[in-house]
Amino acid sequence: MADARIFQDLKADHDRHRAMLKELAAANYADRAELFEALRIEISAHAAAEEESLYATMLANPDLRDEARHSVSEHKEIDDFFGELAELDPKSAEWTAKFKEMRHRYEHHIDEEEEEMFPSAAEKLSGEEEQRLAKIFERRKPRELERAEEEEPGDTRE
Ligand SMILES: [Fe+2]
Ligand SMILES: [Fe+2]
Repeated sequence: MADARIFQDLKADHDRHRAMLKELAAANYADRAELFEALRIEISAHAAAEEESLYATMLANPDLRDEARHSVSEHKEIDDFFGELAELDPKSAEWTAKFKEMRHRYEHHIDEEEEEMFPSAAEKLSGEEEQRLAKIFERRKPRELERAEEEEPGDTRE
């Protein structure tokens, strides 16, 4: 069972993201830009801190490497969506369609992490390792939030 603190931290963020996506989908046009920026910052920081903790460790483990690579490539895909959305008028039909697509992809991503990546990691990692990852994630997330606030959408990663 993936119930160690690192997985609880990550899942708590995912639930926050699900709520933010739902709120943005139902928002008035006038509120979209602000809610989108908050979502972009939150998801970008989460993904970065997740990569610096869990995925860095999974990438170093031959049994977990492929799943880690899959998730990291999806982070890049979501980041590209953010870049594209930032170029569009939030009041346009194009924005609505692109957001819908992004929401679908991202919800799939976090469902997959919870159902596949986290249980695989929990099976292979020691309790000590999981503790260490929780500490790294909790330390990195606030720093990554600050960093994401300063960055332009779509170029948070190479
Ligand atoms: Fe992720
Ligand atoms: Fe995640």
